[in-house]
Amino acid sequence: MPSTILVTGGAGFIGSNFILQRIEEGTGQVVNLDKLTYAGNLRNVDSISSDRRYEFVHGDIGDRELVRRLLERCQPSAIVHFAAETHVDRSIRGPDDFIRTNVDGTFALLEETRAYWSGLSDDARNHFRFLHVSTDEVYGSLGPNDPPFSETTPYAPNSPYSASKAASDHLVRAYHHTYGLPTFTTNCSNNYGRFQFPEKLIPLMILNAREGKPLPVYGDGKNVRDWLFVEDHCAAISKVLDQGRPGETYNIGGWNEKRNLEVIETICDIVDEVAPRDGAPRKELITFVKDRPGHDRRYAMDARKIERELGWRPKETFESGIRKTVRWYLENEDWIRDVTSGAYRQWIAAHYSV
Ligand code: NAD
Ligand code: TYD
Repeated sequence: MPSTILVTGGAGFIGSNFILQRIEEGTGQVVNLDKLTYAGNLRNVDSISSDRRYEFVHGDIGDRELVRRLLERCQPSAIVHFAAETHVDRSIRGPDDFIRTNVDGTFALLEETRAYWSGLSDDARNHFRFLHVSTDEVYGSLGPNDPPFSETTPYAPNSPYSASKAASDHLVRAYHHTYGLPTFTTNCSNNYGRFQFPEKLIPLMILNAREGKPLPVYGDGKNVRDWLFVEDHCAAISKVLDQGRPGETYNIGGWNEKRNLEVIETICDIVDEVAPRDGAPRKELITFVKDRPGHDRRYAMDARKIERELGWRPKETFESGIRKTVRWYLENEDWIRDVTSGAYRQWIAAHYSV
């Protein structure tokens, strides 16, 4: 019988890319448990919705009864846990949902997983894996000359989002250490690519540039992020899932540090080229706005451990990945129309008017 993996948050940006990649590679059954918050979109997995190897279940990771029944019915050999609240700006405006899903939800999922796993046969228990998808933001902020974050960098989260992710990482660590649950934690840098909700920097800038709207840059625009193409991240997760050492954490990054302004200017140039318009170049839309409170200055990942142990390195360069991404957003009008509905417009109006 082919093995089943349970993916949480598989209707979101990275989760949907991961599921599509797994199904394409023919690596078994996938069950997708997603609450469908504003960030979850079933259109992302439209192309496999009637595939017999895929099943969608609508629900909350914090609903223990539902998770218990699902685990009993599907008998997964692995869980890949993406489900989370993920937008730093939203966590600043209202942290409650971040604690509820990222901390309480992960705890609930871990408890039900532990109960399920304890009841498996010896062989199934040994082969079972729980992979927790986390972020570089748990490490805090780097100075300009600091070395990149490694797996031994102390945690120093600065936003409600990163604090909630750090808390969930600690729970996962404890479930391995105390109960022997075969866990992995992957901490990854900023992703970009298709299906990212346009509240995040790259898709927001592409859409605003296309429409000739202001491009809001927080602070001086010199904050640095380490950008990774989403498909490379998904490949790294599969590597860890299939070949990683239980109990380990793996840092994943793009070896690709860029200042926000540089990213935005690159997007402007590509949009000018692909969708030319009369008038001024898109760069002139760049508008400096009030900084994000507690805005981390620089993130960068030392991804040598995953390369050394598992042979993973990113394949896509930023230059080719950002081109593919801009094209995708410009060519997928229906998807954009779908996600930029009422709730999205309200967020943009409320957040950028202050
Ligand atoms: P996303 O916001 O696009 O998607 C999150 C998904 O989780 C959505 O489909 C949403 O409906 C679902 N969800 C939220 N709460 C839920 C709940 N209580 N129960 C079930 N489903 C729920 O997020 P993303 O960018 O795809 O990020 C996925 C994971 O990767 C997160 O854990 C995030 O912390 C981590 N991560 C993201 C990035 C990045 O750059 N986007 C980088 C590193 C790590
Ligand atoms: P974001 O995509 O929210 O990711 P994160 O904060 O998790 O790294 O933001 C990436 C960078 O872009 C971050 O330094 C904040 C900045 N930013 C802007 O300058 N303007 C914007 O409108 C947004 C959404 C982000």
